[in-house]
Amino acid sequence: MTTLVHLSDLHFGGLADIRAVEAVEELLPALRPTAIIVSGDFAQRARAGEFQRGRAFLRAASRIAPVHAVAGNHDVQWWREPLGIPLLGRARLAKYRRYVADEVSPALSVDGAVICGAASAHGLAWGSMTWNPRDLTVKGHLPKAELARAAAEFASRNGGGALKVLVVHHNVLRGRISGRWGLARPLAALHAIAASGADVVCCGHDHEEGIGTIELDGRRVIVSTAGTLSTRGRAHRPPSFNLLRATPTVVRVEIHGLDRGSAKFQLIEGRDFAR
Ligand SMILES: [Fe+2]
Repeated sequence: MTTLVHLSDLHFGGLADIRAVEAVEELLPALRPTAIIVSGDFAQRARAGEFQRGRAFLRAASRIAPVHAVAGNHDVQWWREPLGIPLLGRARLAKYRRYVADEVSPALSVDGAVICGAASAHGLAWGSMTWNPRDLTVKGHLPKAELARAAAEFASRNGGGALKVLVVHHNVLRGRISGRWGLARPLAALHAIAASGADVVCCGHDHEEGIGTIELDGRRVIVSTAGTLSTRGRAHRPPSFNLLRATPTVVRVEIHGLDRGSAKFQLIEGRDFAR
């Protein structure tokens, strides 16, 4: 069995729910993960101290299992490179690369799974623009080159029928509470995700956990949307993380939420999908 722990939106700094983070850190060894996926937003304001706590979290996690991380919109210093124009001498992900991960869209092969990131957080960028001013620097987009690279990784690394897991920061399905899509031009993004060959998408950003599917173009892609480990759960939802367990015949996705009284995680919801 392949076990993937999927976390998102830690928002180190003032917003992190440090009891929830510590509860995850304590629980991780018992989950016996094959890999640990963090779908972005380590920081709140892309500050060095926020990233340094993110780095400490990843270093501890990597002693338990290989970690796979992508950057979220809060990890991007978009003001350094608005619209792709370098203004302040350092690229918008330089600090993320320095502290969190060299690779912004890594690919990782583990027992039973190929995990590939696709960068969706680009700051102030033409591809993420909508007519709504509040979307500026918040929404994401998936450039064609990102999904083409993911598709190539899935094709070349997929010996033995491994589960193909695409990791992006922004929620690819519309938030049930927020009513908001994470990506600009979401329908085109969903078609492109279906065409990438991914079996599962791991995403976050909306601070509302969920289990869903994309069913398009004759393909079904399972969507694991992780909630947040910060104090900013949508509609005051408790901190949560997702757990994926794959056998050759079934993919099970579970949501585990923090019980604030005991500071322990409890199963909230689980769904099984035939492979
Ligand atoms: Fe985000």
